[in-house]
Amino acid sequence: MRTLTGITPSGTVHIGNYFGAMRPAIEAQARGECFYFIADYHSMTSPVDPAERRRSTYGVALDWLACGLDPQHSVFWRQSDVPEVAELMWILGSVTPMGLLERAHSYKDKIAKGLSPNFGLFAYPVLMAADILLYDTNRVPVGKDQKQHLEMTRDIAIKFNETYGETLVVPEAVIREDVALVPGLDGQKMSKSYGNAVELFGDEKVLRKKIMGLVMDSRTPAEPKPDADQNLAIRLLKLFAPGEVALDFEQRLRAGGLGYGDLKKTLFEHYWNYFAAARARRAELAANPDYVNRVLAEGATRARAVAAGVLGRVRKASGLE
Ligand code: ADP
Ligand code: TRP
Repeated sequence: MRTLTGITPSGTVHIGNYFGAMRPAIEAQARGECFYFIADYHSMTSPVDPAERRRSTYGVALDWLACGLDPQHSVFWRQSDVPEVAELMWILGSVTPMGLLERAHSYKDKIAKGLSPNFGLFAYPVLMAADILLYDTNRVPVGKDQKQHLEMTRDIAIKFNETYGETLVVPEAVIREDVALVPGLDGQKMSKSYGNAVELFGDEKVLRKKIMGLVMDSRTPAEPKPDADQNLAIRLLKLFAPGEVALDFEQRLRAGGLGYGDLKKTLFEHYWNYFAAARARRAELAANPDYVNRVLAEGATRARAVAAGVLGRVRKASGLE
């Protein structure tokens, strides 16, 4: 049973990404074989400065290794280090109906937001199908927003198999419906694009200020708060503090007498301690680029060996060999 997922190198990871995607992926390592890659080819559909792309690809590698991705166990690589994926994309593109791609929500959304369409953006789902099918993947954990891309991957694999005979493994999506949506500083879904995110790693003073700036109401500390379970700081505290500690704070808020300032201070301490080990590990890794580059290079070698086998099958089945 092989699990694979792609990680887009975009910006700094926040606690929504951590609880929604990273932690489940890291925990999945205990349950079987995991293939995780940094989707740098995908990142090219939004034009960024080359130095920024390089920095952000490396940053994502540091984030994941610091948070517990174990390169002994998992195969971890940079997508573009296995360029065979581009060959498979071409082959799959030729069995992909235009209509399928024209129905892609993410493409339509991006165009609606004013992004000028390029072929890469349009072909994105075919590259994603190639990412998955190149490694005989069984399970693909993704956020809800990627559900349609996974359906397209399955359709493309089935179409290829119908055209050239049973060759590709048809994968299953694992949609993380059960993970709670982490709220941001303003109570909306935490997202890089809403400017309401709390990062995992960064300057202590800046992050403290962010947490202390959480939006609360104007009730006095003494007032009982029957809706304490809805309080933003309490909801975040539940992610970081042991259950009984968070419950104790919730009860004190409900009863009255606990000020929001004290609550936020407690929240900051728990948040800061929760990531203390990962933060130290990230600093160590950042000081050791040779190690990180070696991990990615070894990951690429392992990934490439699997890719070569699958691509060989595809080339034979389709008459290229
Ligand atoms: P962002 O909204 O910050 O751009 P992404 O879309 O890059 O985040 O999401 C990367 C992963 O993190 C996805 O799997 C997504 O489901 C998860 N994720 C993002 N924000 C949250 C959140 N607030 N709560 C839970 N999971 C989240
Ligand atoms: N498109 C995914 C996202 O935006 C990232 C991704 C690229 C991916 N290739 C993948 C995810 C293959 C799963 C499998 O989050």
